[in-house]
Amino acid sequence: MWDRIRYASIVPPVAVREAVIALRPVVLALCLAVAAGCGSGSSPEVGDGPDGTPEPVLVAGRAVFIDRCASCHDDDGSGTGNGPRLNRGRLAQAYPDPDDATAIVLMGRNRMPAFGGQLTGGEIDAVLRYIGEILQ
Ligand code: HEC
Repeated sequence: MWDRIRYASIVPPVAVREAVIALRPVVLALCLAVAAGCGSGSSPEVGDGPDGTPEPVLVAGRAVFIDRCASCHDDDGSGTGNGPRLNRGRLAQAYPDPDDATAIVLMGRNRMPAFGGQLTGGEIDAVLRYIGEILQ
């Protein structure tokens, strides 16, 4: 009788602890998914190219955009109070020479920060291609 009572009062906490430990990776994965989902995770995906897979440069450009640009220019490039619209052909229209857009990202302009010291030339090219080709 006493044995059963002791057993019953000890087992549940152990089981709960084990369940919590077992669920840790799941909880962590859920937290990461939520963190990625709020804010800037919803920038348009890069579709498959002619070879049936997304072009790696555009995929890299999307990652840079989500990480460094979407906070001010919005997930889809439609602009926020902190940065103007870049989508729907804005870049090609405003900067027929792509070097002019590159220069703004490199050196900044007014409240637009300079990314020259933070992104490589390849990353800047990639993010501008993503903006021009995917954020139509
Ligand atoms: C802190 C907010 C902020 C961030 C982050 C930011 N921008 Fe900007 N961006 C701006 C603002 C503000 C302007 C308008 C600058 C002006 O008035 O001259 C701008 C302008 C631009 C322009 C020129 C748009 C036009 O219509 O003339 C381009 C291109 C641009 N940003 C690209 C980027 C890219 C690419 C990134 C990420 C690598 C980025 N921006 C990150 C705030 C931001």
